[in-house]
Amino acid sequence: MRVVSGIQTTGNLHLGNYLGAIKQWVAMQDQGECLFFLADLHALTGNVSPQELANSTIEMAATLIAAGIDDRSTLFNQARVPAHAELCWILNGTARMGWLNRMTQWKDKAGKNREGASVGLFTYPVLQAADVLVYKATHVPVGEDQKQHLELARDIAAKFNTDFGVELFPLPEPFISKAAPRIMSLRDGSAKMSKSDPSDMSRINLSDSDETIAQKFRKAKTDPEPLPDVFDALDARPEAKNLVTIFAALSDRDPQSVVDEFAGKGFGAFKPALADLAVAVLGPVRERLVKLLDDRGAVAAELARGAAKANALAAPTLKAAQQAVGLQV
Ligand code: TYM
Repeated sequence: MRVVSGIQTTGNLHLGNYLGAIKQWVAMQDQGECLFFLADLHALTGNVSPQELANSTIEMAATLIAAGIDDRSTLFNQARVPAHAELCWILNGTARMGWLNRMTQWKDKAGKNREGASVGLFTYPVLQAADVLVYKATHVPVGEDQKQHLELARDIAAKFNTDFGVELFPLPEPFISKAAPRIMSLRDGSAKMSKSDPSDMSRINLSDSDETIAQKFRKAKTDPEPLPDVFDALDARPEAKNLVTIFAALSDRDPQSVVDEFAGKGFGAFKPALADLAVAVLGPVRERLVKLLDDRGAVAAELARGAAKANALAAPTLKAAQQAVGLQV
């Protein structure tokens, strides 16, 4: 089992990233060979300033280490392993325009102004396919929003293998958290919690202070009804359902057991309990993060070590792909 996943280096790491992806990354370190990376090349497809990109690469790496990614894993930034971009170019010959046109993230991010969108935003999922295929990943732990990109990676892998008559790429399996496949915004139960939401009140950042965490949950949108005694009864109340889901995921409990505990109580009682729980889980992560950021050079050195290992692992697959398509290298 080879586990590979990445996170885009813009903005802050938030509770959606943590519960949907990072918590699984940490747990999977015991189960197989793990490679995790900062997707700094992907970040270039948005409007990110050079300074912001440089800072956020180090800060996100530090956040991942603070959250529990340790030397059982290989941690690096994508730009330091050129095989990702080289394989992406080869796979651009395999991926079809029609496939990429169907990607919902492309449609959402480009919006109405497709002509003005960057080419990188369009081919973004091909680089993502290269990210996992270059390591012959078998398991890719992601939130539900990345499922479509992973299905595309499987399609690209299968077409490449068929077109060139090789058995080079195993089909990567998306591994989606059952507890927190999609954490929603604290301000709008129909939008996912996201780095790009202009309102900071919509998300809990892993760098938020205890007071900020408590305040964000206090102000989170809910409804005046008390909690029901069956979790499924929350389907029509997305904001309430989201808070119960967060409580369950943070405490590794079944959502029904959370509802059992709070049935009949209103959000005036539930929110402070949720804030206390979040502070207890995230506070220690933030404290480790603050210490790690005192020595950014050490974090950069860790990334360089990771990249050396990743380069060695990626090289044979890239070589095989180059040979399969007839490149003389
Ligand atoms: P990114 O940076 O948006 O998110 C990183 C991880 O967090 C998950 N996630 C969520 N999970 C649950 N609820 C949410 N609200 C939520 N928001 C984010 C994402 O699903 C993801 O697992 N394109 C990717 C980065 C990437 C990648 C890859 C991932 C680049 N190459 C190769 C896997 C494999 C992205 O932008 O994720």
